[in-house]
Amino acid sequence: MRHTPQAAPLVLDAAGMQLDRAQPLSEQIHAQLKARILHGQLGAALRLPTTRELARDLAVSRNTVVRAYEQLLSEGFIESRVGAGSFVARLESPAPAVPAERPHWNTPDTAIWARLQHSTIGQAHDGPPRAFRHGVPAMDLFPHAVWARLQARFWRRHAQQQLGYSETAGDARLRALIAAYLSSSRGLRCDAGQVLITSGAQQAIALCALALLRPGDRVAVESPGYRAAAAALSLPGARVIGVPVDAQGLQMQALHSLGSCRMAYVTPSHQFPSGVAMSLQRRLDLLAWAHRHDAYVLEDDYDGEYRYSGAPMAPLASLDAQARVLYMGTFSKLMFPGLRLGYLVAPAHWMATLARLRASLDRHSAIADQVVMADFMAEGHFLQHVRRVRRASRARRDALFAAWQQHFGAALPLPAVEAGLHACLPLPSLELEQRLADTALAHGVELARLSVAGANTALPQRPGLLFGFASVPPASLATAVATLKRCWPPLSADRLS
Ligand SMILES: Cc1ncc(COP(=O)(O)O)c(C=O)c1O
Repeated sequence: MRHTPQAAPLVLDAAGMQLDRAQPLSEQIHAQLKARILHGQLGAALRLPTTRELARDLAVSRNTVVRAYEQLLSEGFIESRVGAGSFVARLESPAPAVPAERPHWNTPDTAIWARLQHSTIGQAHDGPPRAFRHGVPAMDLFPHAVWARLQARFWRRHAQQQLGYSETAGDARLRALIAAYLSSSRGLRCDAGQVLITSGAQQAIALCALALLRPGDRVAVESPGYRAAAAALSLPGARVIGVPVDAQGLQMQALHSLGSCRMAYVTPSHQFPSGVAMSLQRRLDLLAWAHRHDAYVLEDDYDGEYRYSGAPMAPLASLDAQARVLYMGTFSKLMFPGLRLGYLVAPAHWMATLARLRASLDRHSAIADQVVMADFMAEGHFLQHVRRVRRASRARRDALFAAWQQHFGAALPLPAVEAGLHACLPLPSLELEQRLADTALAHGVELARLSVAGANTALPQRPGLLFGFASVPPASLATAVATLKRCWPPLSADRLS
């Protein structure tokens, strides 16, 4: 039963609508508007923006919006009045309202399915690595033959017991090897008993969230920051709140102003996506904050091995005298993400809880991969491979910067990169960000948008582009930069500022 709208003083604001450019845009706009209408966020008789306005705000073509509106119209969610525009239809018994916050996993009082409804994390990569895919290491250098030999050996020699259910915390030898590696390479002293093998850093974050947070707890995250972490942290119904990042990392002043928080999630070695390293002062301040607030710090050291100059800073966990830090690492950036192996190093008194939690989720990681990973480490292949990919990533970074200098020069400097696997070019507007990324993609060059890759909270997003440089050889990077020079409009720093 619908009524014709009488007055419509309010117009829908597109703020909070997030689109994944790799997916059909019209369907996403349709789905997001429909969800807002169904949840009562868009009151009946609210006027929708014109298709031209919404197309401009979302930086999509007008036809894309027209298709979404037509679909909503045909389903009865909106009504159209000649000369007046489109309006939200009055529907009986709308679902209870959920807060109009973005992203959608940021709403603690709704079911998980509702919070994750519009989540775009977890998408598979489209095709083989190409310039400038970010977040993937030099997988072309992975020693497949060695790995295959160790796998074959496992299957020839395994004990039958290894095919049954295994230790939840992980293979004992692998845990010991990781503890030794962290101590010698990352300056983090820990006992093998504090190491829990996980299915990547992602699972480590989710385990910490489920073990330590209660519904309604507040969790501070860096903003811009890692979206997948924010999604995992919200699983127990916690409220994820963004704290801005500056050249020294998480802004402590902003953290203090939040009041009570149960947890802070940070990437201090190499902040994702801005790339800054957290200063020692901030690290100490953050630990003092955690102590004072009875809070926990999740330290995600996802790509800490990739530092190209200067000594790496001590992990927060190594400075922690109060058992406040849970440290996580991953083999995704050193081996390959599809391996799905990572680790969590936690204060000893949390281990039993974390292991029970892991047992109730999926028991443990695949034993063959754990054993082979342990062999790979014990026989020296791992350290050799780490040195190799670090060297290659540095060379690839240099190739990117050399090509950039050649084609764009000092007129459009790409900010220097001393760590990690991507460079970040800040841009003045979201429109330009979108246009440059779309044009690049149309010419076969993949560039992630900073405002999308780092959109983990409701804070306004900075525009920019991420240049992953590790996944392809130097020549491909140079070709891709030349392509950008050809296909992009003329750009220079003064025009951009
Ligand atoms: C900040 C951050 N943490 C962790 C990861 C890796 O997660 P996983 O070990 O689950 O592959 C990534 C990958 O891109 C990341 O950017």
